[in-house]
Amino acid sequence: MNKKETRSIRIQAERSQNREHSVPLYLTSSFLFDDTEQGRALFAEEIEGDVYSRFSNPNTSEFIEKMCALENAEAGVAFASGMAAVFSGFGALLKSGDHIIASRSLFSSTHQLLTKILPKWGITHTYVDADKPENWEKAINQNSRMIFIETPSNPGLEIIDLEFLGKLKSKHNLILNVDNCFATPALQTPVDYGADLITHSATKFIDGQGRVLGGIIVGRSELILEIKFFARQTGPALSPFNAWILSKSLETLSVRMEKHSENALAIAKHLEGNPELDFVKYPFLSSHPQYELARKQMKLGGGIITFSVKGGYEQAKKFMDSLQVASLSANLGDTRTIVSHPASTTHSKLTEKERAAVGITPGLIRVSVGLENVNDIIEDITQALEKSR
Ligand SMILES: Cc1ncc(COP(=O)(O)O)c(C=O)c1O
Repeated sequence: MNKKETRSIRIQAERSQNREHSVPLYLTSSFLFDDTEQGRALFAEEIEGDVYSRFSNPNTSEFIEKMCALENAEAGVAFASGMAAVFSGFGALLKSGDHIIASRSLFSSTHQLLTKILPKWGITHTYVDADKPENWEKAINQNSRMIFIETPSNPGLEIIDLEFLGKLKSKHNLILNVDNCFATPALQTPVDYGADLITHSATKFIDGQGRVLGGIIVGRSELILEIKFFARQTGPALSPFNAWILSKSLETLSVRMEKHSENALAIAKHLEGNPELDFVKYPFLSSHPQYELARKQMKLGGGIITFSVKGGYEQAKKFMDSLQVASLSANLGDTRTIVSHPASTTHSKLTEKERAAVGITPGLIRVSVGLENVNDIIEDITQALEKSR
């Protein structure tokens, strides 16, 4: 059972005496001790077992085990949301005085965490532009401890060279932490290039149906141990119900990502050259500035495309309001196509200058391509673009 698709389907919490085929939901906050001695030994971590769902739960453990199998990782910790995972990765492993090197194009809350929250505790950062790889090494100083990146980035779809960073982090003894939310392990496994930690918002493609929040970090055991300790004490635990949903979702991740990617590529190709657009961006379009790199480190291009309407915010608004099938929502990674306007929603907390630096123009539209019939999505986007003129 060594193929990832099989493992993500077949890994399962131990069966109960009821011989259930599909894993049950362990909706319980705590677990019984056989006797006082067992309680003592469990707390002393002399024996393994579930004690309290803030620490572990069979549904959460199953989800973690599947994610480790998919990401080729040794161990993991699950969280209540993607941001709880991002924060815990920083909180557990960094101390006052430490320095993070990060790709400039990041999900807005991660950017807020780096610029507004971590500096309160004396943790600083330097941003590096994805198109200037020579700057990564220049950004490293004696206090640097972690490299944090998103590839592809949200929403700019910038691709960062994982092999290059894998070598750089080894040379300087840094922790390479990759937010793999857009590609998912079905399309990209950064551990294979030397990444130490993989961080996810499981809320997106991992759930895949827009139902629950969740997050996870998987990676090297000794780092995961520290993150586990941090999470156990601070309490950002994933609920058993959400873990049950997410673990079930992993059974279909690889087929979903193939279809998301197939639909997204077809739409991106169809939109390229549309007179209403300044550009269309998709990792597997040959016009993408890092096309070759995307082809090297990703199996397929993923479910997200971006484009920019020539008429800025006013045209973007008309386009969005003319859509009849696609949903207007802030989420992504759903079976249903979702269209969003990053400048006025997810990335509105950035200054105009910060948005411009990562390519978030007033006319930028992000499409999270769903699993509907692709012709219906193309038709919807085309008619809305016509109406937006
Ligand atoms: C790339 C990326 N990382 C992290 C997050 C945060 O995840 P969550 O909303 O589950 O906290 C998001 C959410 O959109 C994201 O897109």
